[in-house]
Amino acid sequence: MSERILLIGSGGREHALAKALAASASCDKLWVAPGNPGIAREAECVAVPIADHAAVARWCREHRITLVVIGPEQPLAEGLSDHLREGGFDVFGPSQAAARIESSKGFSKDLMQRHGIPTAPYRRFDADQRDEAVAYAAQHPTPVVVKYDGLAAGKGVVVAATTDEAVTAVSQMYDGVFGTDGVVIEGFLFGQEASVFAICDGTRYVTLAPAQDHKRIGDGDTGKNTGGMGAYAPAPVVTDDVLRQVRSKIIEPLLAGMRAEGYPFVGCLFCGLMIDSGVPSVVEFNARFGDPETQVVMSVLDADVAALFASAARGALDDSTIRSTVNGAACNVVLASGGYPDAYQKGKVITGIEQAEADPQVTVYHAGTAEVDGFLVTSGGRVLGVTAADETLKGAVQRAYAAVEQISFEGNVYRTDIARKALDA
Ligand code: AMP
Ligand code: GLY
Repeated sequence: MSERILLIGSGGREHALAKALAASASCDKLWVAPGNPGIAREAECVAVPIADHAAVARWCREHRITLVVIGPEQPLAEGLSDHLREGGFDVFGPSQAAARIESSKGFSKDLMQRHGIPTAPYRRFDADQRDEAVAYAAQHPTPVVVKYDGLAAGKGVVVAATTDEAVTAVSQMYDGVFGTDGVVIEGFLFGQEASVFAICDGTRYVTLAPAQDHKRIGDGDTGKNTGGMGAYAPAPVVTDDVLRQVRSKIIEPLLAGMRAEGYPFVGCLFCGLMIDSGVPSVVEFNARFGDPETQVVMSVLDADVAALFASAARGALDDSTIRSTVNGAACNVVLASGGYPDAYQKGKVITGIEQAEADPQVTVYHAGTAEVDGFLVTSGGRVLGVTAADETLKGAVQRAYAAVEQISFEGNVYRTDIARKALDA
């Protein structure tokens, strides 16, 4: 089938998805709403108002769309996929009910508990249980993890080293910094983090190359948490044996459980894992691709991605669309605005992308860029994701950092140690 595809989103993740979809033999035409200046190189960017579900459906009808791919969590949590499915469109992205595995940490933890999926021990507190939550945090051994029970743009998790920090975090969450949901308080998991994405059709699934993100702003995993400062794939910490456990103890019981409970998962299941001495447990599930992991996972995936997503969206996953999930290795280095993840400046002129991409193995994904008076300028915290592919991880890292050297904008910050753990191991 020749697909006419609408991709929703505007970040580095969507740039990587757009490139993979546009390169697919079965993609006839790709639109991205709203997209960004980098995505505009791959597809036609359109200003469809994503929050207006009826307007999106109308636009899809007018453009005879055969497949909608939803990138970010917000439209999934708001039920865009349900609205489009009711309108007769095939959607790669979970229903609002299934997206609760990300939009409610409490729902996700209860679901894992019901289906025996390994995760940290926890207690869930509702919006009216502030005193109970504070009392629980006050007596919990440290370190302890406090999570807001709703979407918080990646900022709703506090790993508290002391009881004071834990109690403060609970109080701030109940004071409404993110909204009016309750909290989850859970035990601290030791080990190495990794992400495994599964393309799911509600029943069947296929896993992609395991990846590792770098969440902290500073080298050596120091400083504040960010949306992710770089990634690489494949991540050797996810050995064949670990991946087998992820499949049999995590993905399979989750998909079977969600189907049995009436909300089968269709889309990309993001398993955020902690791996301790070769044993994985779940830190979190997300209902979408990760950013910046997607930039490296797509880079090593050799597949007709449009046909793969379409088959999953239609409940008939076709893994013959995949030639290889781990074709070489890839490294992504995020260039961020000075000040990120706190307040940062915008509007700084960016130069050197063409020079960086002189290496045919390098792609510079746009995350927070804008075009102003013919100049490419910064417009977000994470600005660019410099991604390189190579036969080896070492080669990919060298190419990525050589490309990073070519690019400049005022205040540019990046980590110099992406993938170092894997190279040293
Ligand atoms: P989340 O948004 O749930 O992925 O949490 C953000 C980050 O907090 C994770 O990537 C981990 O680094 C850390 N984290 C969350 N839960 C735990 C846990 N139970 N034990 C240790 N670290 C955690
Ligand atoms: N890179 C982590 C995330 O997308 O949530």
